[in-house]
Amino acid sequence: KTNLTIAIDGPAAAGKSTVAKKVAQQLSFIYVDTGAMYRALTWKALQEGIDLEDEESLSVLLAHTKISLTQSESGEGQHVILNGVDVSEEVRSQEVTNQVSYVAKHPSVRTVMVERQRDLVKDQGVVMDGRDIGTHVLPHAEVKIFMIASVEERALRRHMENQEKGYHSDLKQLQDEIRRRDEIDSQRETAPLVKADDAIELDTTSLSIEEVVQKIIEIAEKKS
Ligand code: C5P
Repeated sequence: KTNLTIAIDGPAAAGKSTVAKKVAQQLSFIYVDTGAMYRALTWKALQEGIDLEDEESLSVLLAHTKISLTQSESGEGQHVILNGVDVSEEVRSQEVTNQVSYVAKHPSVRTVMVERQRDLVKDQGVVMDGRDIGTHVLPHAEVKIFMIASVEERALRRHMENQEKGYHSDLKQLQDEIRRRDEIDSQRETAPLVKADDAIELDTTSLSIEEVVQKIIEIAEKKS
């Protein structure tokens, strides 16, 4: 089937977006990185000096903030465009990463984000990654994957990525930040991070990116 919907959820830095992007590319599906949308709003809120506990102001801000995700030519990268400005790099900053969970816990922010995410699914195949895709955004997705990996492994992957880019990186600090983000995402009241009952759990701790991609493609092929 060429209009399969694939939902990929899981904790922070489990490799969801890397894998989701490759699965989408191989199947010629569109890829939607929902975390990037929450990150974009967070970046904008920090720019404007909005208190991240102020749900009302964040909602007003979101109403005036157009966020688009565009595929790059190679199909590899996804660009995050906020009111016409490319903020792809900004939304990956340490500051945004460490604050985004405070923005994402507000119910009225989530309601609008979920609407916008559903609108991105047209009559074509889609791979969407996030925290609540299988449970809330696309509860009828044909394929639901819950990707996990140990905190140590996730922090180590991020650490090596940082080092490759020449960024300063502290492994212990990364572990703490990942743990804290998972805790906030799992404990919020609205659409917390939780495995959907019908999701397939994939522990990627000792798997390569390619192995995870192939496993998901196999699962998808059985559904098509
Ligand atoms: O996936 P990524 O790490 O970019 O997500 C950033 C943050 O956005 C998450 O830690 C979470 O707080 C929020 N998020 C969410 N629901 C989603 C996707 C992301 O709450 N579907």
